[in-house]
Amino acid sequence: MRVSADDGASVEISLNGAHVTSWRPAPGDDERLFLSARSSVAEGASIRGGIPVIFPQFAAEGPLPRHGFARTAVWTLDQAGVETSGEAIAALSLRDSAATRTLWPASFHATIIVCVHGPRLITTFAVQNTGDEPFHFAAALHTYFRVRDVTEAEIIGLKGCRYRESRAPGVFSVDDQETVRVEGEIDRVYVDAPTRLSLREPGRQLAIETTNFPDVVIWNPGAGKAAGMADMEPGGERRMICVEGAAINTPVRLEAGRRWTASQLLTAEPHVQ
Ligand code: BG6
Repeated sequence: MRVSADDGASVEISLNGAHVTSWRPAPGDDERLFLSARSSVAEGASIRGGIPVIFPQFAAEGPLPRHGFARTAVWTLDQAGVETSGEAIAALSLRDSAATRTLWPASFHATIIVCVHGPRLITTFAVQNTGDEPFHFAAALHTYFRVRDVTEAEIIGLKGCRYRESRAPGVFSVDDQETVRVEGEIDRVYVDAPTRLSLREPGRQLAIETTNFPDVVIWNPGAGKAAGMADMEPGGERRMICVEGAAINTPVRLEAGRRWTASQLLTAEPHVQ
C-alpha cells in the first residue's frame, strides 16, 4: 500500500510487519530506503530492507525468534489517508494473540504510526501493556538506508560514544573516530547515543533524529556475509547501511496499564559541504 502526501512525498507500507518498504521525500523522487530485490514478501517472512520493526527481542538476545515476532506478524491497518495539513498518515496495530502468547506471555497493544510530508518521514512506535503484570522488551526501527556507494557514505555524530559489538554484550569500546564508515562488515550497538545523527554521501544527506531510543545499531553485513544471505540481492551490501534507533542495552520495563513511545524522524537535507 502506498500513501502519498499532497506534495508528492510518499511511503509504501506492508501489513506484513507494519513494514515501511519505500520512502520518497518531496521534492524529487529520490528513493531513500534500500529494499533487496531478492527479499521475500510472503506472509510470515521477514523483509530484507525498508524499516523492520524489531520487538520484543533484539537479534538472538533471548529465546524468541530472531529480532522478535513483530516483523513477521500481520498487523491491522487502523487508518490511512491525507490530513488537512497535506501530510499522509498510516496507523497500524498489533495485539497479543494466541500465536504471540505461545512465544511470549505478555498482553500488549503495539502501534506504528507513519507520517510523511515534504522532506520528512516520522515513524512512531508505541507499546501499551494491556495486562496485569509488568513486562520487559527490546525494540528497534531497523532502518535500511539506500546509499549510492556505501564506501563513500559516512555517519556523523557518534564520536565519543560507547559501543559494543552486537554479538558481545558487556564488552564496550569508545568510538574515537569523527565519522563511522563502512569498510566491510560492521555490527555495533552504540549505547546512550546522541539523538541526532547525519548520514552523508556525495550529493545528498539525511538527518536522523530519535526520541526515547537510547541506543543506535549500525549494521552492514559486508560482502562475505551478504553473499551467504539468500534474500540479499547481489552487491546489495554496497547500496545500504542500517542505522537503527533502538532500546536494547537496557530492556524497557513496562508496568501494567502503561504505555511506552519512541520515534524516528528522518529529514532529507540538501548536501552541505
Ligand atoms: C542487526 C544486527 O540489527 O540486524 C545484526 O545487529 C543482524 O547482528 C542484522 O545480522 C540482520 O538481522 P536479520 O535477522 O534480519 O538477518
